Amino acid sequence: MSLDLGVLISGRGSNLGAILDAIGDGRLDARVRLVVSNRADAGGLDRAARAGVPTRVLSHRDHADRPSYDAALVAALREAGAHFVALAGFMRLLGPTFLDAFPHRVLNIHPSLLPAFPGVDAQAQALAYGSRVTGCTVHLVDAGTDTGPIVAQAAVPILPGDDHDALAARVLAREHDLLVRALEWFAEGRVEVTPAADPGGRARVVVRGAHTWFGLAGGVD
Ligand code: GRF
Repeated sequence: MSLDLGVLISGRGSNLGAILDAIGDGRLDARVRLVVSNRADAGGLDRAARAGVPTRVLSHRDHADRPSYDAALVAALREAGAHFVALAGFMRLLGPTFLDAFPHRVLNIHPSLLPAFPGVDAQAQALAYGSRVTGCTVHLVDAGTDTGPIVAQAAVPILPGDDHDALAARVLAREHDLLVRALEWFAEGRVEVTPAADPGGRARVVVRGAHTWFGLAGGVD
């Protein structure tokens, strides 16, 4: 099953680049049907254009409220033939208008081991807290901020003397690998979502035949 992907970005687009590279070298059975940025100056738009992928800029500022912005995103993605969505550094929250259009088919990459350090600048939060370990999480998106069911996590050490850029670079390298792996699992049809067992509980994601956590040494250690 090939994935028809829409990728939403707000900035540099290195995770988008990792997806395009994986498709290009045959590791990921997918096509990026559309890249949408909410910012016209996002570097990822150039990366997409170089790969021959269609791009759109849709600014939340041009829409009266979240539902109308979400509806515009959905329309653009559907028109382009996207059936699965990856948030790759997309800095806007998505509401039910968007999420109901792609049920259990919106994936996010976040640079911490959730539920620690949700929201903006997770690396700064981890450094400020004095954590010794952080990492990255791929999860399905729900209506909260970085709260959806976890698909996979990778741990990354925080070393003495790390500044923000050093830590962010170490985490980012793992993000690229983890996001591509997770997309491969979806493309291979190995991902099952189990609804919450009781009201207020959490949905679970099971990936058949895959290690879904990666330790400090890089592998499943
Ligand atoms: C990544 O750290 C991602 O986890 C976070 O925003 C950053 C985006 O980086 N949500 P890039 O645009 O993919 O290079």
